[in-house]
Amino acid sequence: MKIRLFTSLFAGLLVSNAVLSAEPAVPVKLPDFKEGQYVHQAPTVEDLMNSDKIHPELKKVILRGRDMFMNTQQFRGEYVFNDMNCKSCHMGEGRRNWSAPVWPAATTLPDFRGKNQHVNSLEERIAGCFSFSMNGTPPAYGSDDMLAMVAYHKWLATGAPMYEKNIGGRGFSHLGKEKPELDYNRGKAVYTENCAICHGDNGQGQHKDGEVVFPPLWGDASYNWGAGMTRVFTAASFIKNNMPLGKPGSLTDDEAWQVANYINSQERPQDPRYTGDVKETREKYLNFHKHTNYGTVVNGKLLGDHENTGSKPFLKPDALRPRTFD
Ligand code: HEC
Ligand code: HEC
Repeated sequence: MKIRLFTSLFAGLLVSNAVLSAEPAVPVKLPDFKEGQYVHQAPTVEDLMNSDKIHPELKKVILRGRDMFMNTQQFRGEYVFNDMNCKSCHMGEGRRNWSAPVWPAATTLPDFRGKNQHVNSLEERIAGCFSFSMNGTPPAYGSDDMLAMVAYHKWLATGAPMYEKNIGGRGFSHLGKEKPELDYNRGKAVYTENCAICHGDNGQGQHKDGEVVFPPLWGDASYNWGAGMTRVFTAASFIKNNMPLGKPGSLTDDEAWQVANYINSQERPQDPRYTGDVKETREKYLNFHKHTNYGTVVNGKLLGDHENTGSKPFLKPDALRPRTFD
């Protein structure tokens, strides 16, 4: 099995990258849905093309949004300042359960969001991933690009009930927030054995012909310190259910936690909410950062104690602003 996977993977790399979007080649062990949960089947591009109910103009906009989602790197230096595409974390075109399918944002927002303490729209949720996960800045609200992104998310939600929140396979948190005892060196060992082959010895990822084939897990070209993936529990669940690529579910829960802690104990671009003092920023956003290693000392180094914003020439995008109705 192992041999077959890697042969096909590298053959795939030489010929095309098709294998990366293919369904996993080995049996996967994903969590069960709970009783009473809504389980969604998001439509496929084939469904879109075959539908005679969707106006051809709308099809064009949805396809544009999908293209932005799959190849967000086309906006490098504009909206995106790291090596990520939206699909790097939202795998299977943002449709896959247990890989934070993105459609629930279209049926559960507007709603209050703990991360920024106010009511968020779908546009604002998308803007959040641009600001943190992509270490960038979102397309302007109401712009053609934002419309295309919104259209893609809403179309994926086709048929899902509005404001149903008990959704099977949503998000990346099924391992729960209760972390086991974490050990840097155990995480490093899991990384070396299972991840370095694709993501590189220094988490830098891999490029081929100038394109990102395996995205980086830390460093300047990865997600920043404000991204949801820096929360160790979030990364642990993502990894458990989606990594190593092609073998999701193959790590033990403990291995997933250890390696999540390891990659999130490495440096990355500053949190856009940085106040100029890492300890103060950690305290101010402790609700979030109590789940990260930001502002803590790991191997004698205070993580996040720098002004480095990666290749992004600014710290905080204008879109990140409080909103109140007082
Ligand atoms: C580095 C990983 C990463 C990348 C890249 C990323 N996201 Fe996310 N995204 C997350 C995490 C983490 C969450 C929160 C999941 C959870 O709650 O467990 C999330 C949640 C979301 C949600 C909300 C889903 C829900 O259940 O309500 C949307 C919508 C979304 N992302 C859109 C995007 C878009 C659009 C892009 C590209 C511009 C993107 N994301 C890129 C990590 C990422
Ligand atoms: C066979 C190659 C391969 C292996 C092995 C692998 N990954 Fe990945 N990983 C990928 C690819 C490709 C993506 C992006 C998914 C996409 O674009 O469809 C990814 C995405 C990720 C992401 C989210 C995006 C980012 O860059 O932060 C994380 C986190 C991650 N992998 C962690 C791991 C960990 C931890 C391991 C080891 C347990 C691992 N991966 C093993 C290929 C691999």
